[in-house]
Amino acid sequence: MKITCTALVYVFISLFLNTSCVQAVFSDDAFITDWQLANLGPWKKIIPDSRDPSRVVILSNPTETSCLVSSFNISSGQILFRNVLPFTIDEIQLDSNDYNAMICVNSSSQHWQKFDLHDWFLLDEGIDNVPSTTILPQSSYSNDQVSIKDNELCILDEESKLAELKLELPQGFNKVEYFQREDPLALVLNVNDTQYIGFSVNDTELVPVWQRDEWLTNVVDYAVLDVFDSRDVELNKDMKAELNSNSLWNAYWLRLTTNWNRFINLLKENHFSPGRVFTRLLALDSKDTTVSDLKFGFAKTLIVLTHDGFIGGLDMINKGQLIWKLDLEIDQSIKMFWTDKNHDELVVFSHDGHYLTIEVANDLPVIKSRSSLPESGTVDSVIKLNEHKCQYLIKFENKGHLLFKLNLRKNLDAPIVYNNHTSCDMPFFETLGLETLGLFINELTFVTEHDKNGIYCYRIENDAVKEAWQRTVKSKEKIMAYSNRDTTNSNTLGITLGDKSVLYKYLYPNLAAYLIANEEHHTITFNLIDTITGEILITQEHKDSPDFRFPTDIVFGEYWVVYSYFSSEPVPEQKLVVVELYESLTPDERLSDSDKHFSYDPLTGNINKPQFQTKQFIFPEIIKTMSISKTTDDITTKAILMELENGQITYIPKLLLNARGKPAEEMAKDNKKEFMATPYTPIIPINDNFIITHFRNLLPGSDSQLISIPTNLESTSIICDLGLDIFCTRITPSGQFDLMSPTFEKGKLLITILILLVITYFIRPSVSNKKLKSQWLIK
Ligand SMILES: *[C@@H]1O[C@H](CO)[C@@H](O)[C@H](O)[C@H]1NC(C)=O
Ligand SMILES: *[C@@H]1O[C@H](CO)[C@@H](O)[C@H](O)[C@H]1NC(C)=O
Ligand SMILES: *[C@@H]1O[C@H](CO)[C@@H](O)[C@H](O)[C@H]1NC(C)=O
Ligand SMILES: *[C@@H]1O[C@H](CO)[C@@H](O)[C@H](O)[C@H]1NC(C)=O
Repeated sequence: MKITCTALVYVFISLFLNTSCVQAVFSDDAFITDWQLANLGPWKKIIPDSRDPSRVVILSNPTETSCLVSSFNISSGQILFRNVLPFTIDEIQLDSNDYNAMICVNSSSQHWQKFDLHDWFLLDEGIDNVPSTTILPQSSYSNDQVSIKDNELCILDEESKLAELKLELPQGFNKVEYFQREDPLALVLNVNDTQYIGFSVNDTELVPVWQRDEWLTNVVDYAVLDVFDSRDVELNKDMKAELNSNSLWNAYWLRLTTNWNRFINLLKENHFSPGRVFTRLLALDSKDTTVSDLKFGFAKTLIVLTHDGFIGGLDMINKGQLIWKLDLEIDQSIKMFWTDKNHDELVVFSHDGHYLTIEVANDLPVIKSRSSLPESGTVDSVIKLNEHKCQYLIKFENKGHLLFKLNLRKNLDAPIVYNNHTSCDMPFFETLGLETLGLFINELTFVTEHDKNGIYCYRIENDAVKEAWQRTVKSKEKIMAYSNRDTTNSNTLGITLGDKSVLYKYLYPNLAAYLIANEEHHTITFNLIDTITGEILITQEHKDSPDFRFPTDIVFGEYWVVYSYFSSEPVPEQKLVVVELYESLTPDERLSDSDKHFSYDPLTGNINKPQFQTKQFIFPEIIKTMSISKTTDDITTKAILMELENGQITYIPKLLLNARGKPAEEMAKDNKKEFMATPYTPIIPINDNFIITHFRNLLPGSDSQLISIPTNLESTSIICDLGLDIFCTRITPSGQFDLMSPTFEKGKLLITILILLVITYFIRPSVSNKKLKSQWLIK
């Protein structure tokens, strides 16, 4: 018995290694399919690096709570190193005793840190008693070095004060950001607020050598636009023509004739030479990546909206290259939504109560309209209520709600306002975030939102917003994380166990899960709630003294919830907990009515409470945020994507987090027969191959979003992290089962088939000849 168990464990280990190897990031994949846009944010101060005249040190404050001190090559415009400080500073200076040390100070709190400029080691830090520094002037040049007159910048000769070099200022010139005379001469201009252009001198003139744009910090929302293949349009035309033909036979005849004509054209193009046609067919599994990128749906435009009111389109197969960018000239953007199914137009809402519509259908998007909401006030959040009706629930900072309908037909500034009634007088809360869940029961819409102190549900009935229920937490408690059930396609209703019985999944859709931190009793509580009635279905408390200084997150997939928190007892470690929901834990017992397709009626109290199983795991790294991988049809096994505190991104298959897993020794024979059954091991290892950021230095910032975008290939999902940096890559959680490997030898296969055909053609007569002769007994 013992031997078979160990053997089994080996099998599992090798299975795990095998599967992991197929999905791994190999060095030849790294930096090819993935890309990163590294940002600094608007520059606040530049000082020269004392060691190397081609380097400077740049201070920037991309977010409100942290700041960035970076080493930058001023001749090439490359970021050499970025260092995030945990507090904001307003001054960087060189140490007066040691010119290789740099001091960063927050002058109001007197908090400082001292770094070595060579290796960026932290030498010293403290509050008060800031070490003395060499005072560098605020500006890197004096007026007798550079003069700006009319539309011309002149670099003056030191002695004669005559213009040595001249430069016509670019459009939108803002200021001279940096100037350095010593070799190499460097000049950086700030243009249009966020753009920086670096110049160097070639003999007699100043030439631009690099350009950076720092608009892309603080992405608040995103949208994805598919890029279509022009040949699909042709195919579409064919299909339409076939659909329009009056009988099946006509449609078939049409297809036959068009394809025959195409074949004749192909022959004509190749001068009726079969050899050429053959080689051309072989060449079709081409290295032409753009064709396959289009076909597989990798070619997409990632549209990002930034906090400062910029919107831009990034080309996802060309390393995130900027395709277009618009300055919306709004104070602070909040959210954007598509207004139509074809993805032609976006609506953007701003913090100060404006909304804009932007047409993106053409190559150069334009702002079509700009208006203000019918009710003034600072907007806190916007929820889309109905997928294609352009109805939004707008929540103001004073807690009022507005039901707003965008009038698309006229596309003018004439919104139809249904109602601005608000019946709730809730105290002011700091919002944590806002999630929605719209459910339509007889034209009733339920919307759930939450903040740190509670969950609130509104019922929208006859165009009026009414409070349905609310569930607030106690004074020493707060909601740390919240997640609605993911909307996924359910491909199976249950899980087939090893003995061929079935455990039915609990698929009631209107569920949300959240975590409550109790600072008094040092506990963390998981709750599962019905978002229509507000009833708590499951509650589970952890008393291993969770440390609330560390991040906590929760994700809710098809019938399972995974959450993470950091506990300090018995030893400090990162915990991952999985909860799986079933209709019943007894195999083959089904409580939902199969005819009614899970039509529970929560309003009459007619729901079956779920039964659940749970397991806890230890994870070796601190998890910052989690998210679930998405694919077109949800057939591929789900993966839990995780952004770690150290800036890396990794994922683990959901199968590894199995709430029904048993230790390998306890697994009965039937248990082992279950598909992909994994024994319970309390520690989830990090496999280096699953670190999808591999050796990149990614700075996600504090409010990054980890997103997953399905592609046309069921196996593949695009993963992006939108934060201070933008990073995108592709993952295949179940391996690349729907794509032939590039090494697949189509040519050899075809040639083999051809040879076999030829051989059978020649051998067949001789075999039948032989048979005939043997029947006649001819030797
Ligand atoms: C900065 O860039 C220039 C030009 O590309 C290069 O010659 C130089 O070595 C770089 N310096 C550093 C410190 O990387
Ligand atoms: C200095 O730190 C305090 C508290 O950490 C912060 O409120 C303030 O904004 C910081 N000052 C600057 C100039 O960054
Ligand atoms: C700055 O903005 C203006 C107007 O929007 C534009 O014409 C100009 O090209 C921009 N400058 C650069 C360097 O892109
Ligand atoms: C300097 O740059 C200009 C414009 O880029 C170019 O035409 C010229 O040949 C360059 N001169 C030298 C000496 O490289």
